[in-house]
Order: sequence, then C-alpha cells, then structure tokens
Amino acid sequence: MIEISAVSKTYNTRSGDVVALDDVSMTVRPGEFVSLVGPSGCGKSTLLRMISGLEGITSGRIERTEEMVNSTIGMVFQSAALMPWRRLLDNVLLPVQLKGRIPESKREHARELLTIAGLAGFENKYPFELSGGMQQRVSICRALINDPDILLMDEPFGALDALTRDDMSALLLSIWEKSHKTVIFVTHSIEEAVLLSDTVYVMSARPGRISRRFDVDIPRPRLADVKYSQEFAELAHRIRDQITQDGDVAAARHSG
Ligand SMILES: Nc1ncnc2c1ncn2[C@@H]1O[C@H](COP(=O)(O)OP(=O)(O)O)[C@@H](O)[C@H]1O
Ligand SMILES: [Mg+2]
Repeated sequence: MIEISAVSKTYNTRSGDVVALDDVSMTVRPGEFVSLVGPSGCGKSTLLRMISGLEGITSGRIERTEEMVNSTIGMVFQSAALMPWRRLLDNVLLPVQLKGRIPESKREHARELLTIAGLAGFENKYPFELSGGMQQRVSICRALINDPDILLMDEPFGALDALTRDDMSALLLSIWEKSHKTVIFVTHSIEEAVLLSDTVYVMSARPGRISRRFDVDIPRPRLADVKYSQEFAELAHRIRDQITQDGDVAAARHSG
C-alpha cells in the first residue's frame, strides 16, 4: 500500500509561507484507482509530486508497504511536455533510453502503445504536426512504456476537448481493467472521477485537506453508458454537493 500519513506541505516563498497541504492522510491499495478532486490551489499537484518523490514533505510521512517498495512510477502531466525535436516513437521511448540501450522489444511495444492510442502511422511525425489531444496521448504512451506499477496522472485530459477526453478516459479504463495498475488521478471532472475510480477523495482549499472520501461501488467493467445510470448520477451529485459545501465553508471563513 501507499500510506500517506498526516502529510503537510508549506512552501516558503518571498511573499511568505504558503500552506499548500495540511494533515492529509490516505491509503492507496495496490491496484486501486483513486481520484482526487477539488478546487484549484488545494494542493492536488503538490500531493502527486510528493508521492512521486519530486517534492519534499514538510511534515508527515509517505511510505510504501513491502509489496510496493519496488513498484515503479509513471507520471503524466497536464501538458504533454514532449521533446519537440524527437519523433513520436522516440518521445515514447525516452524513459527507456534514459535507462540505457533501447531493446528492439521496447521499440515494438512503443509501436503497440501508439496503435492502442489511435496513433498508428504517426510514429515518425514530430509533436508540432499533431493536435494537443494527440500529443497528450503520446505522453500517456510514454508514461506506460516501462509498464509502471503506479501511474500518477495530474489532470492528464484537462487540456482536451470533450470528445477526445471521453476517448482518453475509455482508453485509460480499458488499460486499467487489463493491467490493474495503481492509479492516482487528479481531475476537475466529477464524471470522469466516478467513471474511472474505486475511490474519490474530495479536497478542500486552503490549506488543502481531504474533506471526504467516496467509495464508488459501481460494478466493473464500466462502459461509457454507466454515466446515464441512476447510481452514477446520484454519486456524482453527492460529490458535487460536497465540493460546493466546502466552497461555502471556505468563503464564510474568508469573509470572517
Ligand atoms: N513551487 C511552489 N512554490 C510556492 N507555492 C507553490 C508552489 N507550488 C504550488 N504552490 C502553491 O501551493 C498551493 C497548492 O498548489 P497545487 O498543488 O498546484 O494545487 P492544485 O494542483 O490543487 O491546483 C497553491 O496555493 C500554490 O500557489
Ligand atoms: Mg494542479
């Protein structure tokens, strides 16, 4: 498991200290799909970066229990951040190349991933030749190339149009249902969170805290149609109410 225990984060900035997270605790099981939703600035990206080790922790602990200590991590950010001078295939292979020589099997795997992502035939294109949605699909392939056990995804579909977004979440869902990776997924879309997740954590601003945890008991495999079911709508509604309520509490606090 990934155990996040009483984690707080304060950024020391020139204009003073910013408490980004305050006393956040959660446990993520191997193979669990967890989403974090909450307003901008509540510390979602900070928390993901701390889990990945990219960011230091001010207090508290993030630990992995024995069965996950050797788990590898892949990360997807909101912007695709491809290398403009590398062809798509070489962008996908970047994490492999960083480890040394690229075996032919990985090259083959990169082609497969691009095909799954609907990008067959684009292997030798450069990023500027693609739309934003296509670039983002490449960055997801890049995160998957080393078959990480843990995927940390920070609003990976945030910059995409609604239809591409639906395609991408269907793709992610099918990958997850096959591989059962541990996923921690940050999104602004409550529907996306409910569709994909086992557990949704609502975070409140500021300082960022977990205000509530929702278990998503909708059976899998989940097809896109599940969005029109009553239990889906009800859960999405409860999550939305929680976010609204947190916002009201925050506004009342600020107006003193
Ligand atoms: N490197 C940084 N230096 C100073 N403040 C930061 C830094 N990164 C984030 N913050 C602040 O921490 C808070 C949480 O940011 P972030 O984790 O990006 O939130 P979210 O991803 O939920 O929008 C915000 O107030 C933000 O301005
Ligand atoms: Mg963020």
